[in-house]
Amino acid sequence: MTTTIQQLKDFEGQEVTINGWVYNTRSIGKIWFLILRDGTGLLQCVVVEAETDDTIFKLESELTQESSVTVTGTVRKEPRSVGGFELGVKHIDVHQIADEYPISKKEHGTDFLMSNRHLWLRSKSQNAILRVRHQVVKATRDFFDDNGFTLMDSPILTANSVEGTSTLFELDYFERSAFLTQSGQLYGEASAMAFGKIYVFGPTFRAEKSKTRRHLTEFWMIEPEMAYCDLNENMEWAEKYVSYVVQWCLEHCQEELNVLERDTASLKKVVPPFPRITYDEAAEILSKKGVDFNYGSDFGGKDETIISEQFDRPVMIHRWPAGIKAFYMKRDPENEELALGVDMIAPEGFGEIIGGGQREDDHDILLKRINEHGLPVEPLQWYLDLRKYGSVPHSGFGLGLERTVGWICGTKHIRETIPYPRTIYRIEP
Ligand code: 4AD
Ligand code: MG
Repeated sequence: MTTTIQQLKDFEGQEVTINGWVYNTRSIGKIWFLILRDGTGLLQCVVVEAETDDTIFKLESELTQESSVTVTGTVRKEPRSVGGFELGVKHIDVHQIADEYPISKKEHGTDFLMSNRHLWLRSKSQNAILRVRHQVVKATRDFFDDNGFTLMDSPILTANSVEGTSTLFELDYFERSAFLTQSGQLYGEASAMAFGKIYVFGPTFRAEKSKTRRHLTEFWMIEPEMAYCDLNENMEWAEKYVSYVVQWCLEHCQEELNVLERDTASLKKVVPPFPRITYDEAAEILSKKGVDFNYGSDFGGKDETIISEQFDRPVMIHRWPAGIKAFYMKRDPENEELALGVDMIAPEGFGEIIGGGQREDDHDILLKRINEHGLPVEPLQWYLDLRKYGSVPHSGFGLGLERTVGWICGTKHIRETIPYPRTIYRIEP
């Protein structure tokens, strides 16, 4: 019976076959141990001279780290072993003896590891982070699917910008120019008018010219959009969604969070309601802390950390100076200078994970904003249409998948939260 290391608990006392790679070997004379890695876990395989053929016993001196092997043997309970089981080996088939593996147990610099990202993915910590990523995606889909949202894919190739023109990737598109999408939001709005509640989930692109630990040039965004929804209800969805994802991971990624030595006490506190403060109140916090902050500008990474330190769960900052927000944001009817935007800042210095808000729903005002922002109207004509045919109050937000995974895992650098990161200096592997 071929199975995986993760499934071994169902096969105690039985003979099984496992396909994997050599993690390590260790000999103590007439017995040697093969630590096998199969992508689902690690398993100690015990090879006893008296119980196997000579050719199998001699393999110990040949098997290098990451050699590919198929091992057959009997599953035994062994509480001292990783995973609680070990395998009494009967047979080993060798597929390939690996060349000397570049990643060893010693410390390597990050640049070296990133250049070997295609191999580094096999390591325990990277494996754990990407499994958490998988669970965040699963929890996301479950949450929106179970709450009446319909998945609406939006195009990657677009004719317009969404989040300003300075981070656009431009490309030739048959005699005209096109851009890689910065956000699926505008298409999400059109879809919400067709389906009520939708979510867009896909890759997004920004030509981020600065090298920071929070920015990728290619990242994945989850963007719900709701018709008949104002800023307050939008914030309710955001806190419900984020707490659902975090609690799901606490329940389903215990092993991974252990491997990453993540202190989960702070994650356990991530339940609604999240604190909500205005931009003015956030600026006030900075001023009380003696930070030299220029009122009217965006918060920097350090500012976000100071603000988040005042709270034990993610904080939502709403009502921003309109000048620093996108063209599509609705203004606060009580103060035209403010945009009805909301950012969610994760605790522990992990920074902004969500940006969103209520959208301008009046045709003429929206057209005026497009012009004020110096954006070409022609490619946004279809977007303006939405304000002509049954316009309604509507809102939505975008959550950055990688920043969220980084926060849940306690991983300070975003490049480890996506299998193959793209940054200003790196497009390989
Ligand atoms: O705040 P942003 O720019 O908002 C939007 O794109 C809206 N159109 C979303 C919407 O309302 N549907 O980006 C949303 C989130 C950020 O909070 C951050 O988590 C992530 O996307 N993000 C990035 N993540 C990694 N690398 C980058 N360069 C990112 N830029 C934004
Ligand atoms: Mg933002």
